[in-house]
Amino acid sequence: MTSTPASATHQHPASELFAQALRYEHRADPYPFYEQLLRQPVVRMDNDTWMVSGHREIGLLLHDPRISADRLPPPQQRPIRKSLLVEDPPQHDRLRRLVTQQFVPRVMGMRDHIDALVTGLLDAHTSERPGQLDVVADLAYPLPVTVICELLGVPREDESLFGSLARRLTRGLDPIDTQTEDEIRELQQTRTELQQYLEGLITRHDTAPGDDLLSGLMHGQDSEGPMDPVDLRVTLGLLLIAGHETTVNLIANGTLALLRHPEALARLRTDPDLVTPLVEEVLRYDPPVQMSGRSTLADIDIAGTTIPKGSRVRLLLAAGNRDPRRFADPDRFVPDRTDNTHLGFGGGIHYCIGATLARAEAQIALTALARRLESPRLVADPPPYRENAILRGPERLPVSFTRLAPDTAGPSAGRMA
Ligand code: HEM
Repeated sequence: MTSTPASATHQHPASELFAQALRYEHRADPYPFYEQLLRQPVVRMDNDTWMVSGHREIGLLLHDPRISADRLPPPQQRPIRKSLLVEDPPQHDRLRRLVTQQFVPRVMGMRDHIDALVTGLLDAHTSERPGQLDVVADLAYPLPVTVICELLGVPREDESLFGSLARRLTRGLDPIDTQTEDEIRELQQTRTELQQYLEGLITRHDTAPGDDLLSGLMHGQDSEGPMDPVDLRVTLGLLLIAGHETTVNLIANGTLALLRHPEALARLRTDPDLVTPLVEEVLRYDPPVQMSGRSTLADIDIAGTTIPKGSRVRLLLAAGNRDPRRFADPDRFVPDRTDNTHLGFGGGIHYCIGATLARAEAQIALTALARRLESPRLVADPPPYRENAILRGPERLPVSFTRLAPDTAGPSAGRMA
């Protein structure tokens, strides 16, 4: 990982450094740019957007009620119905409560099933191409897709259609000025396709409810009654995309970290309990969600400056995770790091709902890879990366190995946190 920000020195304005971090040629290693941004933990960029990179400052803002989760400041806010991710209380809290009620109990019992899926995926793909595995295509992507589709009640035959919609939509999360006009047009088209797909899915579940989360959401309620059909569709879209496009990067980034740190891989082989702190360290060191956004509902004094009301705010979670004011030796991958309050799942009222599920999938997948692949090696370092800057991770992760050991150990270690 050696990409030096040749053209960016600390005299450059923050917006130039940020633009460099977003450039595709720096996708494999944006961290040197974050390191420079960290010299000023809160800074105004060119365009009335404020960049927050400090761990403490991100934490304060994530918990500040004067911050809105809408990425657009008030006069420009979207007229359309928003998902809970970009919604504020009280609507946010209500939607979140309805989702949590259905989500949490279903996830708690899934560990053995995830274990069986990982075993099946590894056995299937390695028999097709002995000695070579693309960790993304063969394991990191299909695992969370199958799990989220099963949880939500998306029929298996729709998985690939849905997968292609989700992949195309995540690009829409990136800053708009990094997208081409064609991409923006295509995104609009994809959003319409997704909406039609989800409406059809909801209708099918209405006539034939199952034991899945969608059926639960349709029929569950709180004191204000059930979710209305538009909230249901928007929430479903959020869960499907969050379930598809984030955990893949956690598993791939974790594999990459292990293969680049053979001593950590060797330790994981003999000490499966190491996987619990190790996955937390991947979430700190190379987080799947690199940044988030907010807007201010009031003037906010922070780090010796004032972010005016109505500003957009970028929270650079991946930079906060490497803040030397918070973490000793922040650029080092320390698999058993303690006191690891990373920002990988955000914080405050929008803390990731899927954290328990994502942790379980990554812990089980990384333990199985460490235990079963003999003499694994990266075929390309760095691997090719996806275009996406925010949900960042490898496009492919080819790994060679000498043998796939049989799955002899029992259910893998790690715990649901
Ligand atoms: C490694 C995998 C994952 C990572 C790194 C991750 C990261 C995040 C982060 C950083 C946030 C906060 C965003 C913000 O504050 O703006 C978030 C929120 C959220 N995540 Fe995840 N996520 C992961 C997996 C999942 C999964 C599997 C699901 C569900 C299927 C999920 C569902 C959600 C939802 C619904 C929210 C919004 C919560 C709210 O606004 O109250 N995530 N996630």
